[in-house]
Amino acid sequence: MEPIECQNPCGVCGLDSIVPRLTGSTQVVANSEAMQTLLRQAARFAKSDAPVAVIGETGTGKEIVARILHANSPRSKEPFIAVNVAALPGELLESELFGHSKGAFTGADTAHRGLFEAADKGTLFLDEIGEMPQPLQAKLLRALQDGEVRRIGENKAFGVDVRIICATHRNLARRVAKGLFREDLYYRLKVLTLRIPTLRERKDDILPLACLFLGDENCQARDFTPRAKKRLLSYAWRGNVRELENMVKHGAALATGPKVDEDDLPEELSQLSNLAHKDVPPAPETLKSLAELEREHILRVLDACQGSQAKAALVLGIARNTLWRKLRAIQNSD
Ligand SMILES: Nc1ncnc2c1ncn2[C@@H]1O[C@H](COP(=O)(O)OP(=O)(O)OP(=O)(O)O)[C@@H](O)[C@H]1O
Ligand SMILES: [Mg+2]
Repeated sequence: MEPIECQNPCGVCGLDSIVPRLTGSTQVVANSEAMQTLLRQAARFAKSDAPVAVIGETGTGKEIVARILHANSPRSKEPFIAVNVAALPGELLESELFGHSKGAFTGADTAHRGLFEAADKGTLFLDEIGEMPQPLQAKLLRALQDGEVRRIGENKAFGVDVRIICATHRNLARRVAKGLFREDLYYRLKVLTLRIPTLRERKDDILPLACLFLGDENCQARDFTPRAKKRLLSYAWRGNVRELENMVKHGAALATGPKVDEDDLPEELSQLSNLAHKDVPPAPETLKSLAELEREHILRVLDACQGSQAKAALVLGIARNTLWRKLRAIQNSD
């Protein structure tokens, strides 16, 4: 694939030179100011060895950004290994990450090298880190602190040189507040944080992305009609770029002419409840209660204050022990 250039059939250009420089042969759309800013930040983070936490709603492009970070780091010639923490049960995940010795457990017929060892000198991408079981969080923290790992069933630890990038669509600060994620690991992982904007926050990317995905389809259509573009631009895209990719596939399959029309796109796109228009009143049952809003606000402030309850209480304008009581109620309600 060629680096992305201003030859988009939708006629949207204005790309900063940072995009081709960073993304190389991967086609990454970053027409919006929000994505350009994110990529500039990623370019700086790529040079560091510190862990990076990539956060963003589902389908926003967390994995793509993790790959960009690796490809632009001094480790680019070394392995990039991605593991989805949520996809494996705890014990299997432990042996995948850290390896095991022969006979360490029933069925361990041979010694097994873990992904930490496989990623030595390179990057280990821990996707869905928020789902990591607690005992493994402790082991990961040790590996990060000491730069050493120990295979299951072995006493000897050995050094590894691995840069960690992790991703999550969860609010990790909230998971810390609920006692589901270790606070010390949280602070270690979020030294450098990249928040990927939602597609709703970067509308300038919608049409270039849609054209990019359409170009990958085996169909005659290479553009969208004005009506279809209007639909694409007014949809809320809760599933972000991945959802757009799927909708374009649907449109490409149904299109009969040189342009995908409104009627070729899936029905959801025209449903009022999914439109991003601000003047569409929300359904009453979708509105939050005062308690939910309070709880969300408390957790947001706590996150902004880096977990400091004293600072958060000050910002919220309540006494520290009132905040403590409210946090306990939040923990108990989940
Ligand atoms: N800026 C972009 N330019 C081009 N393609 C993109 C861009 N962002 C995301 N994509 C594409 O959208 C899809 C989803 O991206 P990715 O898997 O990186 O998202 P994610 O945030 O990791 O999703 P999930 O939360 O579901 O794991 C992929 O096919 C990816 O190639
Ligand atoms: Mg992902």
